This record gives sequence, structure tokens and C-alpha cells, in this order.
Amino acid sequence: MITWEELERIAQGCHRCRLAEKRHNVVLGTGDRNADVMFVGEGPGYYEDMQGEPFVGAAGQLLDKMLMAIDLSRKDVYIANIVKCRPPANRDPLPDEQNLCINYLRSQYMLIRPKIIVCLGRIAAKAMITQDFLISRDRGKWYYKKGVWFMATFHPSALLRDESKKKYAWEDMKSLRDKIKEVQNENRQ
Ligand code: URA
Repeated sequence: MITWEELERIAQGCHRCRLAEKRHNVVLGTGDRNADVMFVGEGPGYYEDMQGEPFVGAAGQLLDKMLMAIDLSRKDVYIANIVKCRPPANRDPLPDEQNLCINYLRSQYMLIRPKIIVCLGRIAAKAMITQDFLISRDRGKWYYKKGVWFMATFHPSALLRDESKKKYAWEDMKSLRDKIKEVQNENRQ
């Protein structure tokens, strides 16, 4: 089993795909490595690439507020992305880029062993839940796969573009709060 140190070393030197060419930083992840809950976004944007940390730009500030609304902070959860290097002009990561990068996320998942994974937006939901995922239809639904609960909600950037989606994201966050209580109660029994 890989260690965090090995994972960091390998990821920092990664040149498996074209996204490595223009990156300033590999953005592996941040937060509690023993968290019950892992959030997975799409890929780093400008500020994330500059700072080496996921969700530090405008979308990240909204994510912080969403977490705060259910009494969590980014220190209580683990936050990562499908791809670890910034796609140019914030385009969607291409299928080959996702496929070449997904093993880093798998390793993070194996090390953390979260009980709940929240996918932020369509790209993460398709990669982690099912390729047929439609965010407006399937957000907020819980999927149980190999001992882990998965749910997807709107990406915070989508909420910034369209405020009318916020009420749905809020419902999803409340559902997450309930699911956290449920898994923590199961643990105590
Ligand atoms: N959007 C993402 O999907 N991930 C980040 O880290 C920042 C913005």
C-alpha cells in the first residue's frame, strides 16, 4: 500500500498527460486524512494552480460557506479533484486526462477510506458514480457502492453562475448532514 509521502512524491513529478506542461503546482488535496467525508471536484482553476490547494478561488469560498451551513469546515473533510493539474482556460478535463490521473484519487481514497464521497458537479459524478449521471436529474440521490455512500450536488461554480440552483444544493447539504449522522451512529453501535 502506497504511503502519503510516496503519493505526494510521485504526483509532484507526474508528466503522464499534457496538463503537466503548463502547471505551476500539482494540486493533490487538502484536509483531514482521516475524514469520514471526501469532496471531489473537477480540477484546479487559476488560484488553485497558483497556490497548490484545491478550492481556494471563488468556488472554494462558496464551498466553505456550504460546509459552514452544516457546521463543518474544510479541516473536517478531505477535498480533492478528479485531475490534479489545471486544464487550460478552465476547460473540462478530457477523458484521457481523467483516465491518466484517476489512480491518484484512488490512492487518496484507499488511504483515507472515507464513508461518504460528495461529487461536486457533473465531471466528478460521471467519473465516480456512473457515466449516465445527469446532474439536474440525479443530484441529491444516494448511491451505495462497496461500503461507501456517494452523492453529487451542483458544482459551486454552477451555483455562482445560477443562483436559482442554490436551494437544491442546500437540500443536498442537509441530506449530507443526515447521512453523516447516520454513518457515525452505525459506527457507535
Ligand atoms: N473547481 C474545481 O473543480 N476544483 C477546484 O479545486 C477549484 C475549482
